[in-house]
Amino acid sequence: MSTDFPVFPPGFRFGAATAAYQIEGAHDEDGRGPSIWDTFSHTPGRTAEGATGDVACDHYHRHAEDVRLLTDLGVDSYRFSVSWPRVVPQGRGAVNGKGLDFYDRLTDDLLAAGISPAVTLYHWDLPQALEDEGGWRNRATAEAFAEYTAAVAERLGDRVERWITLNEPYCSAFVGYAEGRHAPGAQEGTGALAAAHHLLLAHGLAVRALREAGAREVGITLNLDRIEAASDSAADLAALRRAETLHNDTWTEPLFAGRYPTGEAETWGALADGSYRREGDLEVIGAPLDFVGLNFYRPLTVVDAPHREPEPALRTAVDIGVRETDPYGTRHTTMGWPVVPESFTALLLDLKERYPSLPPAFITENGSAEADVVSPDGRVDDADRVSYLRDHLHALLAAMDAGMDVRGYYVWSLLDNFEWARGYGQRFGIVHVDYDNDAKRTPKASYGWYRDLIGAHRAGR
Ligand code: NOJ
Repeated sequence: MSTDFPVFPPGFRFGAATAAYQIEGAHDEDGRGPSIWDTFSHTPGRTAEGATGDVACDHYHRHAEDVRLLTDLGVDSYRFSVSWPRVVPQGRGAVNGKGLDFYDRLTDDLLAAGISPAVTLYHWDLPQALEDEGGWRNRATAEAFAEYTAAVAERLGDRVERWITLNEPYCSAFVGYAEGRHAPGAQEGTGALAAAHHLLLAHGLAVRALREAGAREVGITLNLDRIEAASDSAADLAALRRAETLHNDTWTEPLFAGRYPTGEAETWGALADGSYRREGDLEVIGAPLDFVGLNFYRPLTVVDAPHREPEPALRTAVDIGVRETDPYGTRHTTMGWPVVPESFTALLLDLKERYPSLPPAFITENGSAEADVVSPDGRVDDADRVSYLRDHLHALLAAMDAGMDVRGYYVWSLLDNFEWARGYGQRFGIVHVDYDNDAKRTPKASYGWYRDLIGAHRAGR
C-alpha cells in the first residue's frame, strides 16, 4: 500500500459526514416523533436481520466523544443531518424545542473545536405523520419541509456555514416509492415520479426559506451516476439514455438548466403524466445555488432489457427496460460495488461539460464498506479502505486539474452506522463501532491515514 498523499490546492476543505437516523439512536427521547424509517425498520423483513436505528451508534448521548474524534482528525468541517421528526414531531405545526437544543449544542461544540458545521436538512427521515397523508406524493409535504427548514434556520442560521437541503433525492423518490427497498417501501409509478417532483420543489422552497433567513452557503446533494452502455448497439445506447434520465437528468435538468428532462416519454411512458407539476415550479426549483454536493461510490453499466411488466400501467418508475451488468474486473467492496476511481473523474468532467454554469462542487460523500476485522490488540487495519480513499482522491484531483471546480471533500463516514436496509453488517466508518460493546469507538487505520493527509495539507506539504 502506498501512502503518497494527493496534494490539493490551498484552501481545499476536508470533512467527514454522517446522517441522523444512521447514528443518533434515542428514537423516542425528548419528544422525537416517528419517521418513515422507524416504521419501515420495525416492519419484519424490511432490513437485514431486522436492524433498526433505535440505538444505532448512540450518538445522541455520545456527541461530545464524537466531536473529540472529529477534532483529533483535524477536519475543517463536519456534515451531519438534522432529524425532521426530532424538530417537528408531527411533520408540521408544533416545533420541539428539545430537538433543536440537541443540534444547537452540537453546533456550538463543533465551532468551539474550530470545525465548521455543514447541515443536511433531509437525509431520508420523513415524519411518519406526513407519510400517513401521502408523504412525498403530496405537494403539501414540500410546503411542510419549507416550514421545518425555516425553524432550523432560525435557531442555527447564525452559526451554520453550509446548508444542504436534500440528500440524494433519487433514493428518496425511486428507492423509496418505486423499488420499495427503502422507506416507505412503496412500489409505484406515477407516485414515485410525483415524489421526485415534490422533492425538487421542497428543495426550491427550502432554498427560499434559507435565503430569507440570511443563510451563507446553500446547496443540494445529488448522487449522480457515471453510466455506460454495455455495448454500442442501438438498443443498449437507448437503454443508457433512459438510465441517464432516471438517475441524472431528472435532477440536473430542472436544477441547472431550468427545464424538465427531455427523455421522460421514452423512459416512463404514460407514467410521467406531469399531473404533479404546476406553472412556476421550475422557477422555484432552479433558484441559484452556492454549491452542488455530489456523493460518489461506484459506476454503473447498463444493458437493454425487456420490461418485466407487460402493461405500461403496471410498470414502476424504475422499470425502464434496463438491467445493470457488471463488466468490471476490479475489486468490489462488501456492498458489491466495483472500485473504479477513473469513473469518478469521468463523471465530474462530463458534468462540467454539460452544465458550464454549474456552481462549485463539494464532494459530500465518498467511501467504502469493507470487511473490517478488529485484531486482538484492538486495531483495525483497513488497508482496502485506505486504498479506496487515496485512489478516489487522486481521481478527484485529476478532474480538478482538468478544470472542475471542487472546493472540498467529506469522507463517508465518520462512524460505522446503520446502512439502511443493509443494516449494521456494512461498515463505512473510518471509526469502528462495536455494537455489542456499548457502541465503543475505535479509530481504524484509515482514520490515521486521513488525519495525516489533512495534516500534510494544512502544513502545505
Ligand atoms: C449514500 C447515503 O447518503 C448514505 O446515507 C449511505 O449510507 C451511503 N450512500 C452508503 O450507501
